[in-house]
Amino acid sequence: MATKVLMVCLGNICRSPLAEGILQSKVTNDTIYVDSAGTGGYHIGSKPDRRSIAVAQKHNIDITQQRCRQFTVDDFEEFDIIYVMDKSNYQNVIALARNQQDRDKVRLLLDEIGTSPNEVPDPYYDDNGFEHVFNLIDAACTIIADQLKNK
Ligand code: 4NP
Repeated sequence: MATKVLMVCLGNICRSPLAEGILQSKVTNDTIYVDSAGTGGYHIGSKPDRRSIAVAQKHNIDITQQRCRQFTVDDFEEFDIIYVMDKSNYQNVIALARNQQDRDKVRLLLDEIGTSPNEVPDPYYDDNGFEHVFNLIDAACTIIADQLKNK
């Protein structure tokens, strides 16, 4: 059965759509199922931010079919691993956890590569931040894809 991975940020329009598209590009659909969500509900139903679409496109990844949705408590049932982009996302997701099993599913994405600081910065107010964000997420997803393929 496919491992189900959920990528989570605040808006689900900048970072987590990139994380979904990048990890999906490194795996086959039948080994890993990837989705993304935001803890906030500001952009439900929207496409990813045009700057995320552009940086993904530059790396030959198409994220234009994604639509924003909000993280819900049901996602703890649906997904095996929930990766969050920063500590604020972590707090928001953990606040909805019902038990230790839910909490154990939640990880900071950059903890997979051991970088410091271990947060993917929010690029929403920084037009120049998207390439850096892409590279951070890409490095983590390379490791995650290898781990999951070897499971
Ligand atoms: P994201 O970026 O969490 O990477 O999708 C943001 C997008 C929108 C907002 C905040 C962060 N916002 O406040 O609308």
